[in-house]
Amino acid sequence: FLGLSTLKPGEVLKLNRNELQALITTKDKNVIQAMYNHAESISRRYFDNKVYLRGIVEFSNECEKNCKYCGVRRSVKNVKRYCMSKEDILYCSDVIYNNGYGTMMLQSGEITNPKRIDWLEDLIKSIKIRSRKLESKRFNRPLSECKGLQIALSVGELSSEYYQRLYDAGARRYLLRIETSNPKLYAKLHPKDHHWEVRHQCLLDLKRIGYQTGTGILIGVPYQTSWDLADDILYLDKLGADMIGMGPYVYQPHTPIGNYWKWTTGRKIKNEKDQEDYNNYLIDLTIRVYALTRIVVGMANIAATTALEALSSTAREKALQSGCNLVMPIITPDEYRKEYALYTGKSEVVSHREKLVKLINKINKEPIFFEWGDPLPHTLRHQNN
Ligand code: 5AD
Ligand code: SF4
Repeated sequence: FLGLSTLKPGEVLKLNRNELQALITTKDKNVIQAMYNHAESISRRYFDNKVYLRGIVEFSNECEKNCKYCGVRRSVKNVKRYCMSKEDILYCSDVIYNNGYGTMMLQSGEITNPKRIDWLEDLIKSIKIRSRKLESKRFNRPLSECKGLQIALSVGELSSEYYQRLYDAGARRYLLRIETSNPKLYAKLHPKDHHWEVRHQCLLDLKRIGYQTGTGILIGVPYQTSWDLADDILYLDKLGADMIGMGPYVYQPHTPIGNYWKWTTGRKIKNEKDQEDYNNYLIDLTIRVYALTRIVVGMANIAATTALEALSSTAREKALQSGCNLVMPIITPDEYRKEYALYTGKSEVVSHREKLVKLINKINKEPIFFEWGDPLPHTLRHQNN
């Protein structure tokens, strides 16, 4: 790659579309390793050896949308729909605070009913108060100096008025994956009443309101090309995402895209060896996209997603050494987790705190507790690049 041997460690590169596509598809092992190492050098430059943790609670699988790849899409009838009670969610927020995870990510399907927004506002305020009290007790600090948990939301496309209300209630981060930067591919993956432009506008609204805005894409989804992935990386950079949460597409039966995948790619998988090869291909592709994203965007929080872990037990370690600096342990109680199967194998992913600490220490990194891990403001971000 393009004179890799002359690269300065930590140097952010403005790669163009052709270069990105070439790096996404190269088979040269030395180039691939150099790409991973360079991404790691940029992570080290900005985050040293720190890994931030965000506790995620999937509080409801009810959803008005019908994304063609998703296991909890509206038209799937054989999932039990749930919404956790406020008390149960508050209990989870205590668990997250006491584990020292710093941030609570509240995730659900998309419900646009105004009552849901009232309920979320009340919930956010309660979590803030409660976690501030816990902080005050734990560190013996006056309540007025306690910040409590940082609150991140991932509850879909809402009006900018609703986004503003949730911000005013205390949420400061929002994750909304664009899924793909290509509107034509977006149209293939979603029904006609889901619009790429609306989703993109939501991201602009979130940024304008002042949220630390997270987005991301599906990697290896049917119909996607390496050019799409190159464009995706450029999109993430152009948007100025504060956080990037993206992961591999994982086959999910009983969905239109799952069926399509089964009759195309899936048809070629005849035994365990084929399956393993395919998983390795997908993991490699995902980690390349992480690495290249880090190389292009420089400082942003990039998550080693859970979907990766569903494919291989070591993939998250590799991701954390190739550009990622975040892990999002799932705190959703077991009784609900099995109903939140957006993709196959999701509910089995290990989130145990000690295991995560071990995993992070094993690669000579340090999990950071009781800190928010906010990104720097954009104005300070591209200094010395
Ligand atoms: N494989 C991987 N990710 C999926 N998502 C939904 N279905 C799948 C799947 N089959 C992701 C979408 C969505 C996020 C909450 O889950 O990208 O934004
Ligand atoms: Fe709903 Fe999200 Fe699944 Fe789309 S991906 S159907 S918005 S839960």
